[in-house]
Amino acid sequence: MQTKQTIAIIGATGNMGSSLARTLAKGNYRLLLKANQQEKLVEIVNQIKEETPGADVEAALCPKDASWEADIIIAAIPFRAEKEVAEKIRDYANQKIVISIANPLNETYDSLVTPPSTSAAEELQMLLPHAKVVKAFNTTFAADFFTPVINGKQVDAFLAGDDEEALGTVSELISTIGFNPIIAGNLSVSRTLENMQLLLIQLVKRYNYNWQAGWKILHN
Ligand SMILES: NC(=O)c1ccc[n+]([C@@H]2O[C@H](COP(=O)([O-])OP(=O)(O)OC[C@H]3O[C@@H](n4cnc5c(N)ncnc54)[C@H](OP(=O)(O)O)[C@@H]3O)[C@@H](O)[C@H]2O)c1
Repeated sequence: MQTKQTIAIIGATGNMGSSLARTLAKGNYRLLLKANQQEKLVEIVNQIKEETPGADVEAALCPKDASWEADIIIAAIPFRAEKEVAEKIRDYANQKIVISIANPLNETYDSLVTPPSTSAAEELQMLLPHAKVVKAFNTTFAADFFTPVINGKQVDAFLAGDDEEALGTVSELISTIGFNPIIAGNLSVSRTLENMQLLLIQLVKRYNYNWQAGWKILHN
């Protein structure tokens, strides 16, 4: 039997963090959830236990505790918070997979704050040089985590990274929650993935664009 992996989700009370936690709870994972607002975090833990009886989930007191015990750390936080969080977990993230889900959008959601020569994922890798950063989930809207299959077809979820084994592990995690993992390339491809989501946000705002159908083009 496969060993149960421990996943720490930092920012677990947010739109993305809570959606990831609720869907991953259905897999064979132990989840350690961390956020600033402890009361809200306990509510999410209770909600998960109600939705998924037998879920292995608990609230962690600090990001260090959560990261220390984790095999995989998901940074479900805004890009602007990553430097502060990375400083807290740096010593505990060595050789671990850290998933960057951030889209480094500006305040008006019409541009990225990162220069074209880098990405949020690459910036996180620089902050955590001994971790294996993988870009994933940034092209999935929080509300869509519960509909990974549309008209009988799995929605695509892109990932990128430099470590083959880490890409395999994150691909499995993506499959566990029902999406179709597509490895898009090495970590620098995160620049494209983050720009893809910027484009989607623009299209949704302008045309109420059906993004799920858009990303299914590879399957047709
Ligand atoms: N929303 C989407 O559909 C979507 C899609 C793809 C990617 N993303 C990316 O996912 C990330 C999270 O987005 P979201 O929409 O889930 O945001 P959100 O709802 O605002 O949640 C942010 C989470 O991060 C925590 N947080 C904020 N600052 C923190 C800090 N300094 N230290 C520790 N925790 C901190 C918050 O905790 P407290 O509230 O307790 O402070 C909250 O749990 C962003 O990088 C975003 O670009 C979002």
